[in-house]
Amino acid sequence: MENKNQEEEGQIVTPWEVTAEKGGKIDYDKLIDKFGCQRLDQSLVDRVARLTARRPTFSSPWGFFAHRDFSDVLDAYERGEKFYLYTGRGPSSEALHLGHLVPFMFTKYLQDAFKVPLVIQLTDDEKCMWKNLTVEESQRLARENAKDIIACGFDVSRTFIFSDFDYVGGGEDHIGKVSFPPVQAAPSFPSSFPHLFSGQDSLRCLIPCAIDQDPYFRMTRDVAPRIGYHKPALIESSFFPALQGETGKMSASDPNSAIYVTDSAKDIKNKVNRYAFSGGQDSIENHRKYGANLEVDIPIKYLGFFLEDDAELEHIRTEYGAGRMLTGEVKKRLIEVLTELVERHRRARAAVTDEMVDAFMAVRPLPNVQLDCHRRCQFPCNIFLFSHTHLSRFLALAE
Ligand code: TRP
Repeated sequence: MENKNQEEEGQIVTPWEVTAEKGGKIDYDKLIDKFGCQRLDQSLVDRVARLTARRPTFSSPWGFFAHRDFSDVLDAYERGEKFYLYTGRGPSSEALHLGHLVPFMFTKYLQDAFKVPLVIQLTDDEKCMWKNLTVEESQRLARENAKDIIACGFDVSRTFIFSDFDYVGGGEDHIGKVSFPPVQAAPSFPSSFPHLFSGQDSLRCLIPCAIDQDPYFRMTRDVAPRIGYHKPALIESSFFPALQGETGKMSASDPNSAIYVTDSAKDIKNKVNRYAFSGGQDSIENHRKYGANLEVDIPIKYLGFFLEDDAELEHIRTEYGAGRMLTGEVKKRLIEVLTELVERHRRARAAVTDEMVDAFMAVRPLPNVQLDCHRRCQFPCNIFLFSHTHLSRFLALAE
């Protein structure tokens, strides 16, 4: 089936595999058509800016380009209804690269802009099953990754981070590979978090994620109305490109394809200078004459993600595109921006203690989320609630 798809469509995008057409780039327009999601157009971005009085540092700059029902969430927000954010990470490696950080930086922006609660799922069970890690190693990686996530600056009074093994109840008798999708689906429903959202079954959920996760949530959205919940809304990003060019996601197996949050200033300089694919021309004369091809230029793509000054970005695009600026100058600016970002992240991460991880991961009501948990909650805040009530209902319906 998968191979047949590739023959027909030339590209595969699933939660497990991302492959562009041979030698080509991922065709995101095709993906929007095939998946049936909507394009995130400028009017929605402007609407977020209007509603939250925050600079809309997303859409193309952040690589977020598609959505499902995001406008419904904004309608509800405008009527004064709350929603919550849900995102996650499969802790498959110790060190994160910049592509891993982007969705979290974006989610932090959303949390700050809308002042809403956020749940973050660490799918240590998923990685344990697929990557053949031991339970202990997966759990250790989940905690290490949680430190990097916390270092992005989330507000502990509005954020609950949980690992599947701890919160969903995994271990020896977890339900296995075939049944992982409902584990990723369940946090889309407020009742999965009785200590947070008791009695608020109509609370909406907005999921920022990369578009390869769409199949999980398509299924979730099919099931939602049948079990009495809103369909979760999605806001979906393209893949953060590898240094070598935009043919898919960055590869964890090739350290030179990505900048890691653990890279030194020297590593960053070397990687950008040696590997970042340039859209500049092959000689200075040609470059002055034709300008750079910004469509394929990686330094420009990366600056689009991380340069906070829109006016400067626009200036660089114009000058470089017209050949007045050279690749070396653009790379130099990128090296500065990335070195600063990675340094800032390293400092923030060094300040994250084990106690802080425990605080984010504690099963607790969130002080800044208005709840009537104490009156309404009929259950003690018991970690197995999630698996028992939710998964069984879900499994019955998802079959
Ligand atoms: N499966 C995702 C990964 O491998 C992790 C994940 C779990 C996730 N829940 C999510 C990602 C919700 C985005 C949104 O990285």
